[in-house]
Amino acid sequence: MNWTLARRTQAMNPSVIREILKVTEKPGIISFAGGLPAPDTFPVEALREATDQVLSRDGRAALQYAASEGFGPLREAVAAQLRAQGMGVDADQVLITSGSQQALDLVGKVLIDAGSRVLVESPTYLGALQAFAPMEPSFAAVPSDAEGPDPEALHRLATAGTVPARLAYLLPNFQNPSGRTLSATRRDELVAVAQRAGLPLVEDNPYGDLWFDAPPPPPLAARWPEGCLYLGSFSKVLAPGLRLGYVVAPRAVFPKLLQAKQAADLHTPGFNQRIVARLLDDGFLERHVPNIRARYRAQCAAMLAALEREMAGLDVRWSAPEGGMFLWLRLSAGLDATALLPEAVRAGVAYVPGAAFFAEAPDARTLRLSFVTASVEQIDRGIAALANVVRCARAQSPDAPAAAALDTGG
Ligand SMILES: Cc1ncc(COP(=O)(O)O)c(C=O)c1O
Repeated sequence: MNWTLARRTQAMNPSVIREILKVTEKPGIISFAGGLPAPDTFPVEALREATDQVLSRDGRAALQYAASEGFGPLREAVAAQLRAQGMGVDADQVLITSGSQQALDLVGKVLIDAGSRVLVESPTYLGALQAFAPMEPSFAAVPSDAEGPDPEALHRLATAGTVPARLAYLLPNFQNPSGRTLSATRRDELVAVAQRAGLPLVEDNPYGDLWFDAPPPPPLAARWPEGCLYLGSFSKVLAPGLRLGYVVAPRAVFPKLLQAKQAADLHTPGFNQRIVARLLDDGFLERHVPNIRARYRAQCAAMLAALEREMAGLDVRWSAPEGGMFLWLRLSAGLDATALLPEAVRAGVAYVPGAAFFAEAPDARTLRLSFVTASVEQIDRGIAALANVVRCARAQSPDAPAAAALDTGG
C-alpha cells in the first residue's frame, strides 16, 4: 500500500532530544540530558489520599465525560493563583489542557497559517517548534543579548515585510534550554514593543514557581492581558504524568481555543483535574513547592561548583540560573557539542547538544545540562568526566587557543 501523507507531515520530525535519550539512558551513564523533573519530588502519598477522596466522594462524576473548558474548581484555583502573581484573570479565561504542550498545539492551530511569521527566542523550547511546525509557519529567531531577546530586534522582525508577524513565543522564567530569566525592565521593554507593533505574545511559564532565592518579576501577561496568551503547567510542581496544564486567553481568542480543544480530545481527564483541585484546595501545593525549590537549588549549586572546579582553563562559559532545571554551557571555539556527544557518552556522561534548540543559525558550541535528576555525587563525577572530554577535544582541535591565554568561568 502506498500511503500519501499530508504535506504537513514533512514538518513533523522526531524530537532530537528523545532520540538522544535513547542512546544516553543506558545503565551506568550519568545523564544531564533529560528534561525530567526529579521523581523523588512526586508526591505519591498526597496523590494517593486525594485519589481516594475523589473516588469516594465524587467517583462517578470524576469518571464521566466532562466539560472541555476544564473542571470548574480547578479553573478557579488556577485563576486565584495567577491573581496572586499580579495577573487579572477570571476563571472563565482558563482553559485546562492536557499538559502545556497541548496548549502550544492549540495555540498553533488557532493563530498560525501556512507562511505566517512566528518569532521565537534564540535558543528556544524545542517542543514549541515541534508543535507549531505542522502549521507551516516561517520561524524568525529574535537576536538576543545577555538580558534576553532584544526589544528593537523584536520590533523590526514583527513589522518587517508586507504582513505583520503572527505571534512571538517567549519564555521569561528560567528558560528551557538556557536557564535565563528576563529582568523586569526587559519585560517592560518587550511588552511596550509588542503593544506598539500589535504583536500577540505567547508566554510559556512552566518553571516560574521553581525559583531559588526570589520569585521572578510578574509575567508579561500581567502587563498586557489583552495581548498575551499565558501557558502554565502542573508538570514541574506536581508530576508530568498527570498531564495537566492550562492556557489563559483573552476573551477574543478563548472560544476558538476551546473549539480546537474539543476537536483534539474533548477534555483533559476530569479524574486527574479533580485530584489536583483537591491538592490545591487543601494548600498542599504551597507546602510542597518549597521542598522542590530547596532541592533544585542545592543541585544547581553543586553543578556550578563542579563546573568552576573542573572546567578551569578550558575556556568554557556557563549560565548561573536563578531557578528552573537547566544550565546552558558554551564550549571554546572550534568545538562542536553534537560531534562531542558520542565521546562524552563513551566517558559515561550525557547532555543535549544546544543546536537542536535554535530555529535559525544554531550555535554548535552550546549544550544543555539538567541539574535536577542526578545526585550531587553523580554531578561531581559527571562534570569531571565532561571536563576530561573537553580537555581531550581541545588538545586535538586546531582552532582551540592555547590554554595559557584563556580566562575561565561562567
Ligand atoms: C518550556 C516548556 N513548555 C512546555 C513544556 C510542556 O510541559 P507539559 O506539557 O508537561 O506541561 C515543557 C516541558 O518540558 C517546557 O520545557
